[in-house]
Amino acid sequence: MKGVVLAGGLGSRLHPLTKITNKHLLPVYNEPMVYFPIRTLAEAGIREILLVTGGQNAGDFLRLLGNGESFGLRQLNYAYQVGEGGIADALRLAEPFADGDPICVVLGDNLVEKSIARHVEQFRQRGEGAHILLKEVSDPSRFGVPVFEEGRIVRVEEKPEKPASPYAVIGVYFYDSSVFERISRLRPSGRGELEITELNNSYLAEGKLTHSVLDGWWTDAGTFESLLLATNLVAESVTRKEQEKNESSRRLEAVPIHS
Ligand code: G1P
Repeated sequence: MKGVVLAGGLGSRLHPLTKITNKHLLPVYNEPMVYFPIRTLAEAGIREILLVTGGQNAGDFLRLLGNGESFGLRQLNYAYQVGEGGIADALRLAEPFADGDPICVVLGDNLVEKSIARHVEQFRQRGEGAHILLKEVSDPSRFGVPVFEEGRIVRVEEKPEKPASPYAVIGVYFYDSSVFERISRLRPSGRGELEITELNNSYLAEGKLTHSVLDGWWTDAGTFESLLLATNLVAESVTRKEQEKNESSRRLEAVPIHS
């Protein structure tokens, strides 16, 4: 399976922070935002990754990420999106890279606490259809929201005023090779974008969309509130890991040495 990170867009909800740089280059506590989705893929064992970006700061990604050495990658691939056509439009640029393989797509402003390796492995074995991940949230109307009937998803609604469930469809998606043909059949939504939600609905209409609920925390970081939340969650994780490290080295030091 190959990985795709979508890191384009205008980031208009973060103006003026994004007037002179790309949203995904902004800091989340101690690292640039784009590190997180790349690491999510790399740590799940995905070695071939494409970063799709656009705008005036595209070159900064090259300087920051290089060939992905710091993520244990041999090479990082790049694609440039001209203009703004939405998430599914950006994904279209991944077609030559995917070259018929299944893909795991991560939105560049999505952060997950735990490994997604289990989901990667399950989809790798299945190899067809699409798979989405859900997380219960307090404000579902900001996201894609699944509508359930008798325990099955019957529809995904994009930013519904009255959410039909407390779940958000998070920005980590698994697709088979039919994804690009499906994108070519999408029409722009009311906000003039090719919506990833409609792409998911096209799989759903054929009974080919499955889902699981994500373990651990998840957040996007595309608004001031969610960027602050992401920063705090990452800070807590970093502090906890440091404490655990100190704790285990203290335990090692405390072990008496017998000669
Ligand atoms: C996008 C998707 C939405 C999804 C969200 C996850 O929203 O359109 O379905 O739930 O990412 O972060 P956007 O970031 O464009 O508001």
